[in-house]
Amino acid sequence: MPAPWPHLRREGRDLYTENATPGLRSYGEELKVVDGREFRHWDPWRSKLAAYAAREGPPFDPGRTRAVLYLGGAHGTTVSHLSDLLPEARIFVVEKSATAFAPLLTLARSRKNLYPILADAHLPERYRAEVGIVQFLYQDVAQRDQATIFRENALACLAPDGTGVLMLKIRSVTQRRPVGQILRESERELSQLGLRTGRPVELAPFAREHLAIPVTA
Ligand SMILES: C[S@@+](CC[C@H](N)C(=O)[O-])C[C@H]1O[C@@H](n2cnc3c(N)ncnc32)[C@H](O)[C@@H]1O
Repeated sequence: MPAPWPHLRREGRDLYTENATPGLRSYGEELKVVDGREFRHWDPWRSKLAAYAAREGPPFDPGRTRAVLYLGGAHGTTVSHLSDLLPEARIFVVEKSATAFAPLLTLARSRKNLYPILADAHLPERYRAEVGIVQFLYQDVAQRDQATIFRENALACLAPDGTGVLMLKIRSVTQRRPVGQILRESERELSQLGLRTGRPVELAPFAREHLAIPVTA
């Protein structure tokens, strides 16, 4: 099947992104050259967005995505692939851990479309002026109030016709309540802002106890 995106390659179940920094690996991933273009293996065991994209297709339109807000960048594994997929977009990456931020900064030095921000995603007012309006909001932070964080960042930065994905880590919300209840509560929280949620996508076996919730503004 041909890849639906200009910088994404699909080989059976395997996904690859076209390396925006040819010759450079970000985290030891496999590189391969096809027809003179270099690709990096995008491993669903290491990236929940890859697991999601392998099942559902990428959750945004590359043609109209000029800016992305990514919450919980960690060391930049998934960020590096987004950077490949959207070479013309500005990708703002919020990370609150100084330890994780250092490799993210190093990654951003070799990639011109990454803008790392050392901040707590609970406080979008600290970075909303820098970020402006984005067409895609992605969140992967293991916090009890994940839906609230997503909602507040959508309110601050998501375009009226934007899309997003909330990677909901169920057991970070609570150890006790059933999954269905946590999901309904999260969906209700997002709908308070008028956000529409799509069918949740299970990420097992790649990421256990995670549901990906696609969101439309
Ligand atoms: C599961 S890791 C993210 C992995 C990354 N998305 C990837 O696929 O490569 C979660 C990250 O969220 C960060 N984080 C947790 N709470 C946060 C918050 N309130 N604001 C910003 N970052 C946060 C953690 O420091 C951690 O690096």
